[in-house]
Amino acid sequence: MIKNKKILLGITGGIAAYKAVDLASKLTKQGAEVKTIMTANACELISPITFKSITHQPVVTRMFDIDADIEHISLADWAEVIIVAPATANIIGKVAGGIADDLLSTTIMATRSPVLFVPAMNVHMYENPIVQENISKLSKLGYLFMEPEKGMLACGYEGKGRFPKTDEIIYFVQTYLNYKKDLKDIPILITAGATRENIDPMRFITNYSTGKMGQALARAAYIRGAKVTLIAGNITENIPEYLKCIKTSTADEMFNATMKEFPKNQVTFMTAAVSDYTPTKPSGQKIKKTDEMILELKRTRDILLELGKKKTDRQTLVGFAAESENIIENAKLKLKKKNLDFIAANNLNVAGKDETEIIFIGRNIEEKLTGKKFQVAHKILDMVFKK
Ligand SMILES: Cc1cc2nc3c(=O)[nH]c(=O)nc-3n(C[C@H](O)[C@H](O)[C@H](O)COP(=O)(O)O)c2cc1C
Repeated sequence: MIKNKKILLGITGGIAAYKAVDLASKLTKQGAEVKTIMTANACELISPITFKSITHQPVVTRMFDIDADIEHISLADWAEVIIVAPATANIIGKVAGGIADDLLSTTIMATRSPVLFVPAMNVHMYENPIVQENISKLSKLGYLFMEPEKGMLACGYEGKGRFPKTDEIIYFVQTYLNYKKDLKDIPILITAGATRENIDPMRFITNYSTGKMGQALARAAYIRGAKVTLIAGNITENIPEYLKCIKTSTADEMFNATMKEFPKNQVTFMTAAVSDYTPTKPSGQKIKKTDEMILELKRTRDILLELGKKKTDRQTLVGFAAESENIIENAKLKLKKKNLDFIAANNLNVAGKDETEIIFIGRNIEEKLTGKKFQVAHKILDMVFKK
């Protein structure tokens, strides 16, 4: 999907400039044509030759080069998308202030293509109200931003400011390039992952769900402009910073969070694998080993059933059913019993995998969807929103 795309990579003088090498390499390997502009300060941190060797394309560092064309216009017109990664506080401030005093800032000024900034900096710099105001101003003007990750920063501080994973940046760009903002401002609720029911402080009951399908839906909907709320159980993968996420652990916590958020949303996707049972009396202390142990369980509250009862005419409810046998019949029964609008039925063996095979069932539709989870997520959104 990123193949043959013309990508202009802008590298500024942030310490994460070395991570942009990996980004350039992955984009090139996936078939994109990558040209690079480096600021003078970026060249202090990493050599232009590195990018040239990896992308096999021109790397431009100066505006007034006797041998070059008028690069800021030709590159601005050539690029299908500009990714500024890492983006310093300086470049964000310059663009927000209308300053075009070097090749990168002038090219950004001259382009009509989308520009994605990937800020990475010290947490205090990132939280500085001037930087935040600049980001907010540029976002309102249509510039794209990826939120930095939280964690240990190169400067020794801990906080928000880390360069995101390069795969996340590529995912963001490829979905942006391939999908329109057709779900703008639609509030969408998604539950994902497995719940954990405590037996004692050390042990719990859970299941094999990793939350990949729910996360794929959340990312796809977000990139298409929806206002996404993700209610996460136990999710094995990194949840991107740009998603509004409510973390839960037990079925009870997920029930409460979902009931609270449900009325605010137009469409709800219930992909979470919620435990049907929970220990009747979880122990406050670690249970000692005995020859035999009988664990008494009670039913948890059925979130989907409750949502189906509460659903208004303006809301759409989509359930997911993982079955090991009679997949379609069981899914159809669940669709009716729980008052759902759609149900995505799949075999248990897709849990944790990147690919899936789903039978998507509505009152008048029954369609098989196969492929990478994020592609299937887009198809599901198309079907729910009748695109
Ligand atoms: C070693 C070093 C690391 C730096 N790292 C960052 C950084 O991660 N983020 C940032 O915004 N600025 C960082 N700076 C400061 C920028 O380099 C400085 O603001 C510069 O003017 C940016 O220029 P440019 O945006 O034209 O590349 C760093 C400076 C040095 C000396």
